[in-house]
Amino acid sequence: MSVLALMVETFSFPVTLQAEPRSVDKMGGTGLLHVFCILVALVSVSLVQAEDAYKFYTWTVTYGTISPLGSPQQVILINGQFPGPRLDLVTNDNVILNLINKLDEPFLLTWNGIKQRKNSWQDGVLGTNCPIPPNSNYTYKFQAKDQIGTYTYFPSTQLHKAAGGFGALNVYHRSVIPIPYPNPDGDFTLLIGDWYKTNHKALRQSLDSGKSLPYPDGLLINGQTHSSFTGNQGKTYMFRISNVGLQTSINFRIQGHTLKLVEVEGSHTLQNLYDSLDVHVGQSVSVLVTLNQPPKDYFVVASTRFSETTLTSTAVLHYSNSNSPASGPLPAPPVGKYNDYDWSMKQARTYRWNLTANAARPNPQGSFHYGKITPTRVFKFANSAPLINGKLHYAVNKVSYVNPDTPLKLADYFNIPGIFDVNLLQNTPSNGAGFIGTSVVPTNLHDFIEVIFQNNENTMQSWHLDGYDFWVIGYGFGQWTDASRKSYNLVDALTRHTAQVYPNSWTSILVSLDNQGMWNLRSAIWERQYLGQQFYLRVWNAQQSLANEYNIPNNVLLCGKAVGHHP
Ligand SMILES: *[C@@H]1O[C@H](CO)[C@@H](O)[C@H](O)[C@H]1NC(C)=O
Ligand SMILES: *[C@@H]1O[C@H](CO)[C@@H](O)[C@H](O)[C@H]1NC(C)=O
Repeated sequence: MSVLALMVETFSFPVTLQAEPRSVDKMGGTGLLHVFCILVALVSVSLVQAEDAYKFYTWTVTYGTISPLGSPQQVILINGQFPGPRLDLVTNDNVILNLINKLDEPFLLTWNGIKQRKNSWQDGVLGTNCPIPPNSNYTYKFQAKDQIGTYTYFPSTQLHKAAGGFGALNVYHRSVIPIPYPNPDGDFTLLIGDWYKTNHKALRQSLDSGKSLPYPDGLLINGQTHSSFTGNQGKTYMFRISNVGLQTSINFRIQGHTLKLVEVEGSHTLQNLYDSLDVHVGQSVSVLVTLNQPPKDYFVVASTRFSETTLTSTAVLHYSNSNSPASGPLPAPPVGKYNDYDWSMKQARTYRWNLTANAARPNPQGSFHYGKITPTRVFKFANSAPLINGKLHYAVNKVSYVNPDTPLKLADYFNIPGIFDVNLLQNTPSNGAGFIGTSVVPTNLHDFIEVIFQNNENTMQSWHLDGYDFWVIGYGFGQWTDASRKSYNLVDALTRHTAQVYPNSWTSILVSLDNQGMWNLRSAIWERQYLGQQFYLRVWNAQQSLANEYNIPNNVLLCGKAVGHHP
């Protein structure tokens, strides 16, 4: 780093403190030590812009016992909380988060939807990071850059997600960046997900033995079945809704109220009104709700979709001037039939970019004419559920992914051969038996790719890509063919990080590969991810440059064949 850059960074430090009082709160009273730490961070973490605030956290992960569905069970707590603490950030904040693992198993958190620009080192999945051993810690350093919206974090390994450890990650706009809707009068975060009474180790054992997970036992809203949200009549509130479950799509609705969709995973949307919204596993949406009804309490309802047995969970929207409890029938789900995929697909097509709104990105979202770019590569990925050695696995184009002991990213960095295979996974599906492998799909930085997710199974799919958001340009039933491109939305499709694929259907996306690194493309349906429906996209440039990718972190954890190497 040049002396000038260092001076600039050091100089701007007091300004940072004044301009961003929220970061001061987090620092507490031990001023000098923290000032020193920040200076060290500013000097050593040259990867971030000095004017952006730093936020410091220490999170301790433990087991605890609670009874979310009435009977006591072991769950994973973060700082004693289930769900974990809400991570409230302002866009471009730098996060320094020391995660201390007090479980009896290695642990990792991933930051779902945080794009980790140039920084797959901090992604928190087994392809990029060694898991944090028990009684040990790792300090994540990342920036929530150029994104505003509702996101989540969750444990990425060992089926820990079935025990908790997840939480909300909200990125707010800076006051100088306008948003295309009035500031809401308040803001509620709803983590909704299916839940099992069975311990995560037992569920894991069952998957390891080749058995699929049973149907969930219930649906939780913020870790419970009796949440309540209080607002004032006449005011407008943002509801930030995320599906943090393991396998079930949900439908969300509020008795007597309409939902105005304003944001989907970092995209400002056309502000359509809905009676209810489908939210698939791993997805998030933000809606505005105006409390324009007579003062009483109203049911907030989440129910599972596309299943013969519907699980329903309710919470309460309490008007502060209300004296009557919620009553009357629960608002009905969209249709009576349990498998109405058509309704859901039609709704998904109405999620669109507001082309006149700004975006938290260098280009205003409307000025980026993604539909005029010819993809440099086309991939078609088909999911399947093959038996391999007599046991259930899940696969992509026949390959069922297995995690190696050495993270792929470290194997790349230290030139350790034989960890992964870039020739295993074919670009299009073909017939034949499934097999196990550590599959990496090689791509070049600045490729612009079209990906078709073809689902020939009779179950819902949900696909997530780390490091990116992507345009979801089409959904259709049956087999994708070249003619399917005629139905693509090449004008105002929105970008998001997780896309659903309906049974016996396809979904197409476009991705601008502008973020170098090793990125996990995985099923968000958690048993599928666990049993191999994932792989890594290696976005690579032969010319290594700090302008494209940050250096290996100086506190990197080493494991597998990376042990003994020096970063
Ligand atoms: C563990 O925490 C300590 C501070 O308590 C920190 O100095 C160290 O860098 C952390 N370890 C890793 C690997 O990040
Ligand atoms: C699009 O965003 C603009 C603000 O830039 C807002 O005024 C307008 O209402 C939005 N349009 C729709 C249809 O949501």
